[in-house]
Amino acid sequence: MSEPVNASDYLKLAAANVDPAVWCYFEGGAGDEVTLRANTGAYGRWRFRPRMLVDVSEITTATTVLGTPVSMPLLVAPFAMHGLLAADGELATARAASALGTLFCVSTITTRTHTEIAAAGGAGPRWLQLYVVRDKQRTLDHLAEAREGGYSALALTVDIPLLGRRERDLKLGFQIPPDLPLPYIRGKDPALAETMAQHFQINSALTWRDLEWVAAESRLPVVLKGILTGEDAALAVEHGAAGVIVSNHGGRQLDGVAATLDALPEVVAAVDGRCEVYVDGGIRRGGDVLKALALGARAALSGRAVAAALAVDGETGVRHVLSLLHDEIELGLGLLGCTSPDQVTRVHIEPTVPYDPPG
Ligand SMILES: Cc1cc2nc3c(=O)[nH]c(=O)nc-3n(C[C@H](O)[C@H](O)[C@H](O)COP(=O)(O)O)c2cc1C
Repeated sequence: MSEPVNASDYLKLAAANVDPAVWCYFEGGAGDEVTLRANTGAYGRWRFRPRMLVDVSEITTATTVLGTPVSMPLLVAPFAMHGLLAADGELATARAASALGTLFCVSTITTRTHTEIAAAGGAGPRWLQLYVVRDKQRTLDHLAEAREGGYSALALTVDIPLLGRRERDLKLGFQIPPDLPLPYIRGKDPALAETMAQHFQINSALTWRDLEWVAAESRLPVVLKGILTGEDAALAVEHGAAGVIVSNHGGRQLDGVAATLDALPEVVAAVDGRCEVYVDGGIRRGGDVLKALALGARAALSGRAVAAALAVDGETGVRHVLSLLHDEIELGLGLLGCTSPDQVTRVHIEPTVPYDPPG
């Protein structure tokens, strides 16, 4: 294949070049992967309504998330185990995101410590994605490290009380290498060649009350990641969430839930401006980000596009894919007749087929 010129090219290159028994973990979804496909497909059901004769000689893609300046409304989603794809793992991603001026939401399941990742990211903006594990002290230590490492918010992932069944992993025999460091997740015996499910010490008993506990203990704003309904979005606001990420974990948890773009309007309506709303799942183009903004998202996050670029060309690959997406957002803004992300509104898109909003 020639040089990658878009995010999908990176996904194709990664699928062709990474060991299938490893790439299956990154590429796959749960069950029949209906939701995985729906996430990307949903963007195709909206088209743009551009406005002409607007002065777009000066365009900025810059925006803010929870008041933190970012270079564009596209952030790096938390995904596990970058060390399976590149030698310096999350450090490479942190350097690339920082160079591009966008926010890196760092997973709990990293192969480097969050302090090391913070050092690599330097002044770049970062959030920490939190899994509350069964050992409470471990979570408390984790929160203290996040604060000290300059992570400005927590993304508490709420859609994984149990681990989704990812059948590609089973078919292709995905195994976490026994020597892969997983400082925040591994059980007591790191020598065991555990399955993902055995690794997963996550607390299945988490409830809304724990959100308040996390917020109080961390003294950081908490964003809930994995909200798909207006009911839960309203509860998130009532329990003090600073934001919600409309996410179905990239189709890796409950198969058969709505594509995130389809769930977004319901969540935006329920929140009614009381906190910021973000969305992830299926972002492959700058145009996808613009559609998400038009439906009320403050920003979008990308997981697999970044993972693919990391696998193909390490830090350079991540820089490249982020710069490609940045340039697509900038061009799209200008061609829509907008000079900044906050000018993109519902009037800039329309459904290609009659649209029956959920709820
Ligand atoms: C390989 C992989 C690992 C992931 N690990 C995590 C994780 O550790 N924590 C989390 O909150 N979400 C995790 N996610 C979900 C992502 O944050 C995000 O919701 C999803 O990747 C977005 O969809 P996209 O990959 O189509 O961009 C993971 C996703 C993938 C693909």
